[in-house]
Amino acid sequence: MTPQFSAPKGTYDLVPPRASAFKAVTDALSGAAERAGYAYISTPMFEDTALFERGVGESTDVVTKEMYTFEDKGGRSLTLRPEGTAGVMRAVVEHHLLSGQLPLKLWYTGPNFRYERPQSGRYRQHVQVGIEAVGVDDPLLDAEVVAVGDEGFRALGLRDYTLGLTSLGCAQCRPAYRALLTLFLDGLDLDEDTRRRAKVNPLRVLDDKRPAVRDQLGAAPLPPDHLCAECAEHFATVQEALQGMGVSFQIDKRLVRGLDYYTRTTFEFTSHRLGAQAAVGGGGRYDGLIESIGGPSASGVGWGLGVDRTLLACDAEGLDLEPAARVQVYAVPLGHQARLALSALAGQIRGAGLSVDMAFGARGLKGAMKGADRSGARVALIAGDRDMSAGTVVVKDMADGSQREVPITEAVSAVTALLGGPEVS
Ligand code: HAM
Repeated sequence: MTPQFSAPKGTYDLVPPRASAFKAVTDALSGAAERAGYAYISTPMFEDTALFERGVGESTDVVTKEMYTFEDKGGRSLTLRPEGTAGVMRAVVEHHLLSGQLPLKLWYTGPNFRYERPQSGRYRQHVQVGIEAVGVDDPLLDAEVVAVGDEGFRALGLRDYTLGLTSLGCAQCRPAYRALLTLFLDGLDLDEDTRRRAKVNPLRVLDDKRPAVRDQLGAAPLPPDHLCAECAEHFATVQEALQGMGVSFQIDKRLVRGLDYYTRTTFEFTSHRLGAQAAVGGGGRYDGLIESIGGPSASGVGWGLGVDRTLLACDAEGLDLEPAARVQVYAVPLGHQARLALSALAGQIRGAGLSVDMAFGARGLKGAMKGADRSGARVALIAGDRDMSAGTVVVKDMADGSQREVPITEAVSAVTALLGGPEVS
């Protein structure tokens, strides 16, 4: 039968076992954040449109071309979040979270929506794991944020990627640099659209991937060459701290990210194994963002790592994240009494902290054992009605095929011993 519906363009379904690999990426990236004391936060998937316009920036592709904006039945303009930082900062301000201990350290995960041209690694719905550290302007915090991202990728086994690092300056030094860059751009042969963008944010042009623009940018003044003394010192300390932590990086003076809020430290992780969409994560400092959305003057630094792309990078590096087994134990009951007894036993096994599934639907031994094989379980528990009258169950080690009969009352400890404890004969 041809399905009548398919997932919308630019989106895809995650089905088992691929979905488990996706979850393993999410867990590894967020695990790195939790080990550094970041607390979980969750915010709505849609926000007031104005939050993104102000927060993400009106010169960005994300805001001008890619937002899923709609009016709700109450006439409000809402937008599906294209990224996580603006919403998290809105929540930080709304709940006065900066009145507690600083820095405030948060991590989050969830889907983001951007109306982009779909291609491998670029989707209209993508998932990020993100962290934000707010309220302390300390270069060591920038270094920690970067290092935690690096640790997340390493925990997955990824090795073939580069961390590009730059500094975009601050509210003090940016205006002079901006004027210098504008002067340079004025002398170039740029189309109307690019000129318009340059007026709103000239740094955006440095990010232009089109050869006609790129080729003219060779002699452009670059942000890290025009930092004020404070920014230069901040940047130097970030580098020194990263070196001390053993995190490799490359200075990338041309790095400008696709969002307007960045100040000072800015970085991107790029996989060498992916095609055009190779950025597996990125972030930086955003010292004016919180104020620009109506909050106090507070600094922040964070990243968003793309789960979809990170999984593609894992594929490309030959890392298999799909679990070998769906459950540890699989029960094979044959007959009515056995079905009742093993379903009760399954509950006890779960109670002991192990995972278990069983053959449902009164299947014969062959079919049920196929189910046990497919589940990847290390242990099968097999029982017929005759075993029930004897009060026993067969415990089969699926790894070597050996089996023994145990009283059903001892089944949980026999299974536990087989899975984790000493070898049983
Ligand atoms: P971003 O660079 O726009 O930053 O997105 C972060 C990561 O999400 C990218 O490096 C990429 O891996 C993934 N990503 C973005 N768009 C797509 C897409 N269309 N399809 C698949 N993956 C995608 C942010 O969103 C910032 N909020 C990060 C941040 C947090 N900066 C400071 N704090």
